[in-house]
Amino acid sequence: MVYYLAEHDICQKNLNEFGRDLIFGFQREKKFINPKYFYDKKGSELFEQICLQPEYYVTRIEYKIILKNISELMNYFVDKNVSIIELGSGSSKKTKIILKYFLDRQDNKLQYFPIDVSQEMLFNSTKKLYNDLPQITIYPIASDYFDGIRRAKEYINLNNYKQDSKLILFFGSSLGNLEPNDAIFFLKTIRTGLNHNDFLLIGFDLVKKKEILESAYNDSEGITSRFNLNVLNRINRDLGGEFNLDLFKHLAFFNEDKKRIEMHLVSLVKQSIHIRKINQTFNFQKDETIHTENSYKYKLEDIDYLAKNSNFSIQKHFVDDNNWFSLSLLSPS
Ligand code: AVJ
Repeated sequence: MVYYLAEHDICQKNLNEFGRDLIFGFQREKKFINPKYFYDKKGSELFEQICLQPEYYVTRIEYKIILKNISELMNYFVDKNVSIIELGSGSSKKTKIILKYFLDRQDNKLQYFPIDVSQEMLFNSTKKLYNDLPQITIYPIASDYFDGIRRAKEYINLNNYKQDSKLILFFGSSLGNLEPNDAIFFLKTIRTGLNHNDFLLIGFDLVKKKEILESAYNDSEGITSRFNLNVLNRINRDLGGEFNLDLFKHLAFFNEDKKRIEMHLVSLVKQSIHIRKINQTFNFQKDETIHTENSYKYKLEDIDYLAKNSNFSIQKHFVDDNNWFSLSLLSPS
């Protein structure tokens, strides 16, 4: 079964929020856009393509780590009925491996709550998943993480599935979009919704050579560049902006001090851009940038620190042979 828990995402409420966030970010000394706005239909498709680029090792390696360790992972859930909540589910490709395993050994019905900001992506992958694994009950939630978890929890409590253990999946190192303090706040928020036999399985991209990191965000096909620039298209379409994409350039580099990849859009000329629906004009100097994303990279001790400060204990770091990525299993401490 599929139960749709959330309403349509291009409603006025969301447009107003986009407008407000944009004004907030563009009025800053250093202009920025929240990276969650990358993921309109086109942006989500481009991200799926990024994941297939040879330079973008993240998705491939995380997938391999899951495959290699799935039986060991399942040992943590012996004799538990599990409800699965996934943050930023995207195509749900990695999750499918896990869902299949649970289906094989779980008597009760298996509930899966994929949460994603891109409704289009979410509903398409829900349909596919339902086709492949019709035994699962899927509750797609088109919304951001905080709101999504709240809704999933509400639903689980409402329907008295309290005997279930929850497994929260947060793949792709998406936590890396958050500043370290915000990451702790975020993990704490997740933590408050968890009971003692619940788990969080979360991906962390690890610090590695600068060249490897930088080429992952500067793929030779230019997909990441298109992904980055597409946010300007979204502003044009949703908010009546007048950005010319040829007058901005993709920039991505590793900031070694802060251990993060930074993505920016560089204005190639001095220009003023009017955005009709929010009634604002913004000025850009030549070479001024819009900071569109941070992607923090971690050392294992950073992960331990984040976990400790958000009341989680590390059960295990599942790491690939080259130490490029960690899929970490956390439980409430
Ligand atoms: C989805 C946030 C994990 O930071 O690697 C990929 C997004 N941006 N290429 C990342 C992204 C450019 C991705 N996350």
